[in-house]
Amino acid sequence: MSELLNESPTKTIFSEIRKWKAEKDAVILSHYYMPPELQIPVKDGGVADFLGDSLGLSVEATKVKAQNIIFCGVTFMAETAKILNPGKNVFIPDREAGCSLASSITANDVIELKKKHPGVPIIAYVNTYAETKAECDICCTSRNAMSIARSFDSDTLIFLPDVYMGQNLQKGIEKETGKKLILWHGRCEVHEQFSNTSLSTMKMMYPNAEMLLHWEVPEETVEESLNNRAGVLGSTNDILRYVGESKSKEFILASECDLGAILKSTYPDKEFITPCIKCPYMKKISLLNTLAALKAIGTSEEEKYKVELSQDIIDRASIPVKRMLNFS
Ligand code: 13P
Ligand code: SF4
Repeated sequence: MSELLNESPTKTIFSEIRKWKAEKDAVILSHYYMPPELQIPVKDGGVADFLGDSLGLSVEATKVKAQNIIFCGVTFMAETAKILNPGKNVFIPDREAGCSLASSITANDVIELKKKHPGVPIIAYVNTYAETKAECDICCTSRNAMSIARSFDSDTLIFLPDVYMGQNLQKGIEKETGKKLILWHGRCEVHEQFSNTSLSTMKMMYPNAEMLLHWEVPEETVEESLNNRAGVLGSTNDILRYVGESKSKEFILASECDLGAILKSTYPDKEFITPCIKCPYMKKISLLNTLAALKAIGTSEEEKYKVELSQDIIDRASIPVKRMLNFS
């Protein structure tokens, strides 16, 4: 990633963004799926004050001192930052940065689920909008889903909205505790593309490569991939940790393509092979619209970027989000 710093147009935007951040009392929180140029930390000459997975960024959001947060990620993540910081201003450089999982379920869908399964605890993956979260008992991210599911006494739990992640969790949780999960039918349009077919050529070409699989990948891919070779099924952070601990030099990445950028810059002596599937929502965020959002703070333009939630939604959604953070 650091070679990007030598490209002079990028260098100019980096220094512009840093100047405006100071002027507008703002920090930038940036997700690992951002384009590589937005993943470079300030200490290395970039603009990201914090780089992380969705849980890491939620935790950072609670510690921010600046009055303004620019969230370089997708809308449900920026909403979580707002829920945790109701007194601060949260901006997203493109309000159209959605998520196929978050838009697969509404608050009304959850109300109907509760009528159908009275008393069954509901775990909502953070990849949901604030209104949906407000109807749920607890949130989880890919990092803490397993320990949160384990913590309930109930034999049955509702897990929403990702059906694949739910099926992958179900296997582990059922084996360990006998608990059953009732699932919703949402899918991540990025991770569902990691089929056995899409990975088969790479597996043939790299017979010794270890597998890096995100929870949101289909169950049959996980089964086939980890049948005869080493690897990890987990969250973004689990993947980063696994690569650091593994002696292997080759990995097949079955997760968002730009996670490869931080993997490669952290472990330059290792090789990462991937079909390179990018999240179209994450890629709506760029250096240019990040700069535009910063400049807009405090002007009549700021509404274009501001994340607004009603006090009622903040109050209700903060309960499951804060319960989740107690597990972190
Ligand atoms: P993480 O919770 O691992 O950051 O993942 C977020 C996401 O959008 C996965 O597709
Ligand atoms: Fe949503 Fe999938 Fe994109 Fe993550 S990668 S933001 S789950 S669409």
